[in-house]
Amino acid sequence: MALNIDNIRSDFPILSKEVYNKPLIYFDNGATTQKPLQVINRISEYYLNENSNVHRGAHYLSQIATDHFENARKYVAGFINAKSHREVIFTKGTTESINLVASSIKGLIEKDDEIIITAMEHHSNMVPWQQLCINKNAKLRNLSVAGDGSISLSELKDLIGPSTKLIAIAHISNVLGTINPVKEIIEIAHNNGIPVLIDGAQAIAHVNVDVQDLDCDFYAFSAHKAYGPMGIGVLYGKESWLNKLAPYQYGGEMINTVSFNITTFNELPYKFEAGTPDVAGALGMESALRYIDNLGIDNIRSYEDELLEYATNSISKLVGVRVIGTALEKTAVLSFVVDNIHPFDIGTLMNQLGIALRSGNHCAQPLMEHLKITGTLRASFALYNTKDEVDIFVSALEKAINMLS
Ligand code: ALA
Repeated sequence: MALNIDNIRSDFPILSKEVYNKPLIYFDNGATTQKPLQVINRISEYYLNENSNVHRGAHYLSQIATDHFENARKYVAGFINAKSHREVIFTKGTTESINLVASSIKGLIEKDDEIIITAMEHHSNMVPWQQLCINKNAKLRNLSVAGDGSISLSELKDLIGPSTKLIAIAHISNVLGTINPVKEIIEIAHNNGIPVLIDGAQAIAHVNVDVQDLDCDFYAFSAHKAYGPMGIGVLYGKESWLNKLAPYQYGGEMINTVSFNITTFNELPYKFEAGTPDVAGALGMESALRYIDNLGIDNIRSYEDELLEYATNSISKLVGVRVIGTALEKTAVLSFVVDNIHPFDIGTLMNQLGIALRSGNHCAQPLMEHLKITGTLRASFALYNTKDEVDIFVSALEKAINMLS
């Protein structure tokens, strides 16, 4: 089914804004997506009519809020095809989801154990593992990234050994747009008895995510990169794993019984949800995922793939432009460098022309080092972007290059 982009755009009021007297072209969706009215209205409806704490009060509003909050959890479980809502932990976002696992798995990691990540990881899927390894005298192993932005499964097989305790990898790279072969990676890992955590921050709004089909042990994502609010995300974990992990934080909600000397912990998922949760955020996330479901993730994927191909072909015609990340399997992210011009300078000019890009290292300094570049410019697309916007972007880019050359 073809998407009706005009209708979609009318759901996102911010897209009709002007910046510096130019129509806004928002190509920074990898950083955060805009929010449709459905999400904004759901959040304000909660605060107008339903606001109350969950799982605590015996009163009407608390029951309504609790029902809606738990229904949101069930919707998320369905969206990623989790076996049970008990496997869906609400967190602040992808970063907290990954930190939760890195912290709670500590007791299972010993001296000289190994954790494998790739050179393309965002800092949030690198630093937690690096610090865990430093803390436990374990080793962080690094799967390299080829010039086109792909990884090699045979190199992964060579890296895996008897000491490997975990593999953590991005589903889609926030810099390169590469869609990693996560299903194959998980199969290889499981054949060696190793659990896998997938950083799904850049994937959840762009490709179908089916955690049972992938068979991943953990899957982390944020709502705000999928048309939902900031400050809420999800850690999916297989029940067997979540039962093995220690609690992440202590406090209300995550307990069962407490005495001065001893505490017993609540069942899943509450064992990992200390304190008052972001109820409005969960409801906003549910609305955002419903929005995606109504359009169909496969329709979104084909539309964004078409847009990416169109944009890639168009900028490749400009003299001095080099696309960074040309793997066969990629989506929604177009990173590039321009000969002899710093990405920041082009980003600044593009901003004055109303075009929102991201420039710099994209929270992936080791990848920049690996690729021997200082940074890139990045256009990252969402379902409301258009080829007309790409045309304006490309001619603005040409203008910026001419001014700076
Ligand atoms: N992780 C986000 C990005 O890549 C912030 O821009």
